Amino acid sequence: MLIKRRLGWEMPESQATPEHVALNRRAFIGAGAGLIAGAALPGLAAAQGADPSLDLYPAKRNESFTLDRPLTDAELAANYNNFYEFGTSKDVVAASQKLVTRPWTIAIDGMVEKPFEIGIDDLVRKIPLEERLYRFRCVESWAMAVPWTGFPLKSLVALAKPLSGAKYVKLETFLNPRVATGQLQRWYPWPYTEGLTMAEATNDLALIATGIYGKPLPKQHGAPIRLVTPWKYGFKSVKSITKVSFVAERPKTFWEALQASEYGFWANVNPEVPHPRWSQASEQVLGTRERRPTLLFNGYAEQVAGLYKGLEGERLYV
Ligand code: MTE
Repeated sequence: MLIKRRLGWEMPESQATPEHVALNRRAFIGAGAGLIAGAALPGLAAAQGADPSLDLYPAKRNESFTLDRPLTDAELAANYNNFYEFGTSKDVVAASQKLVTRPWTIAIDGMVEKPFEIGIDDLVRKIPLEERLYRFRCVESWAMAVPWTGFPLKSLVALAKPLSGAKYVKLETFLNPRVATGQLQRWYPWPYTEGLTMAEATNDLALIATGIYGKPLPKQHGAPIRLVTPWKYGFKSVKSITKVSFVAERPKTFWEALQASEYGFWANVNPEVPHPRWSQASEQVLGTRERRPTLLFNGYAEQVAGLYKGLEGERLYV
């Protein structure tokens, strides 16, 4: 985000998949995933090196979350990513395959009744998974619409049993520069860290995603577990989480530590508040030539605007 790179809308027309082709391909992929999931027992899948959570996909869709636009093609979304641990370009697919996602443990600590660690495969069988269709808006002004699979962050908060003094949830990515060579670049404040207020974290929209397009998350999308906060700019949606801490003080986030004037703690989407270096009035639909007007809170004002009553003095939209 701080450096010059090829933007989504510079993609040649020939690379954009027409929507009807994309939808048919998705139906085909979805059906295939269902067949595999039906055939494979979790134990067998693990023995074969496959994702042991495969049988949980596709999860039942929660129909309360609807879209005002077509879904983005899965291939497009999976080949245009921000994952600075694996490089600053959008092409991180190959580099991110080095990430080992099993075993994967998430530490729950800080101001909780009792800190604990939980393995990803225990976690996804403890809290029911569901599919939600969400808009996703990057601060760079590209946007997509994708089906995430996961569970509300508030379910994880409930599992953690935070103490009353906990005011914020801090979420951190792994730290392993041998695998993620981007982490050798010492001017970045690794590990990638994000934070939400308790009210934000327990809002129903805040999702912990473990899958996308009816399958477990591919590594470039933040396997095996990431955050999705669709009313905020995409950099809040921290990938490959290993630690969730409940804290009293507002955590210093990765991008805020790098450039607070451009990437603040709140980062709520607002068409009327420009980024210091570009307008946020409209957004480029990933993989197409279409520009759409940006929506306040990315179209989720009804669900989240109330979270910010009394905080008008804060830089809520940067
Ligand atoms: N999480 C980590 N750990 N590292 C990152 O570089 N980039 C963020 C966010 N989460 C990032 C991250 C940014 S800037 C965006 S826009 C989204 O991931 C992109 O998510 P996607 O690649 O799945 O579309």
